[in-house]
Amino acid sequence: MDSLLIKGGVPLEGEVHISGAKNAVLPLMAATLLTEEPCIIHHVPDLSDVRFMGQILTSLGADVRFDGGTVYIQAAKLKGMADYDLIRKMRASICILGPLLARLHQAKVSLPGGCIIGSRPVDLHLKGLAALGAKITVKAGYVHAKAPRLSGGEVFLGGRVGPTVLGTANVMMAATLADGVTVIESAACEPEVVDLANFLNAMGARITGAGSPTVQIAGVKALHGAEHEVIPDRIEAATFAIAAAATDGEITLVGARPDHLSAVLDKLRDANVKVQRNGRNLTVKRGGELRPVDITTLPYSGFPTDVQAQAMVLMTLTPGLSIITERVFESRFMHVSELARLGAEISIEGPSAIVKGGRPLSGAPIMASDLRASAALVIAGLAASGTTVVNRVYHIDRGYEKIDAKLKKLGARIERIKET
Ligand code: UD1
Repeated sequence: MDSLLIKGGVPLEGEVHISGAKNAVLPLMAATLLTEEPCIIHHVPDLSDVRFMGQILTSLGADVRFDGGTVYIQAAKLKGMADYDLIRKMRASICILGPLLARLHQAKVSLPGGCIIGSRPVDLHLKGLAALGAKITVKAGYVHAKAPRLSGGEVFLGGRVGPTVLGTANVMMAATLADGVTVIESAACEPEVVDLANFLNAMGARITGAGSPTVQIAGVKALHGAEHEVIPDRIEAATFAIAAAATDGEITLVGARPDHLSAVLDKLRDANVKVQRNGRNLTVKRGGELRPVDITTLPYSGFPTDVQAQAMVLMTLTPGLSIITERVFESRFMHVSELARLGAEISIEGPSAIVKGGRPLSGAPIMASDLRASAALVIAGLAASGTTVVNRVYHIDRGYEKIDAKLKKLGARIERIKET
């Protein structure tokens, strides 16, 4: 297993190109199962989750070829059962269920594994597919879904904590080939859902309202091949923006989508971080002494849960008290105990982390627990004095394309080493 060895205390300076969004490309790849024609997706990040989705599609019978930042996929023939162990390993693989059901009228997919960031049920996915007429049973770790004909229906996808992103993707994909019109209420409004709807429409689907809580899908007989470019990764962009502020440097994010980052940029400005917009580029640097801010994570367009851990690192460096409340995944505070090893003072009170910031961080060996927590620990290591070793960085390779190379280009002293 790899680790990242970081010698902190260097302000990051320069330009970084934002990669294609992981959370967009995974459902886009699943959507190619809806047609037997070839599909081409550009601006595909080189990530282990993306390669993994490629393996899942291959195991279902699709031809998948990666070439630089482009993936060519053709699912001319398909089988309806995916490899149990492959699916179990990655939560996002659940979004093959909707396309398989729509195309083959049946699917057997293992329940995706639990996740360290909190309970991640799929009840809303199943409720949505059932509303389209699918018969669903869950037996021995598998979801079995059957529907000789899917027919449009009305489905409310709001759960205990709001809408579901991949659940919306699953139902939207299944509904493209259903008879009649489907209306999803309390749909997720994330930009990745809009990107998927744009791709599906390019394939011949008839979707309106994506990006709002009400999405309508008029079913069509068949979809055809299409070519698409993935949107930039707003979580990667936010991570580099926070790294600029945390290290007191200045980074220009090239090819970001500032309109997808409003909640994060708003909080950064409140924290006295200057954000200058120049078309699709953003330049980020401190405006003076950092100011504490309270943050609550929410579904889009609120502050993303996937940036909570990184924002917490910035608050540990900010003199004063800030409260960070997690409203999407209740146990997403695994990074707190690791940040404490670097000297951060954070206490957890229910869904909130109370951060007493301003004490300098100093390097130590720490352990990554999940994807976004790993990014936060890397930022903490970059801001800390001395040497930090972040172990188990395979988590970070799931979702950040060449993060060590990108950071190095910005001046970071960071090396990938073998874990001892
Ligand atoms: C997606 C993102 C993930 C992000 C999350 C929230 C991908 C590949 N992953 O995950 O990075 O952190 O959105 O923005 O796009 N829930 C239910 N029942 C369900 C489904 C979800 O109760 O059937 C709950 C979850 O436990 C969670 C909340 O709804 O508390 C939001 O989860 P959801 O939006 O479904 O997350 P994902 O789509 O899995």
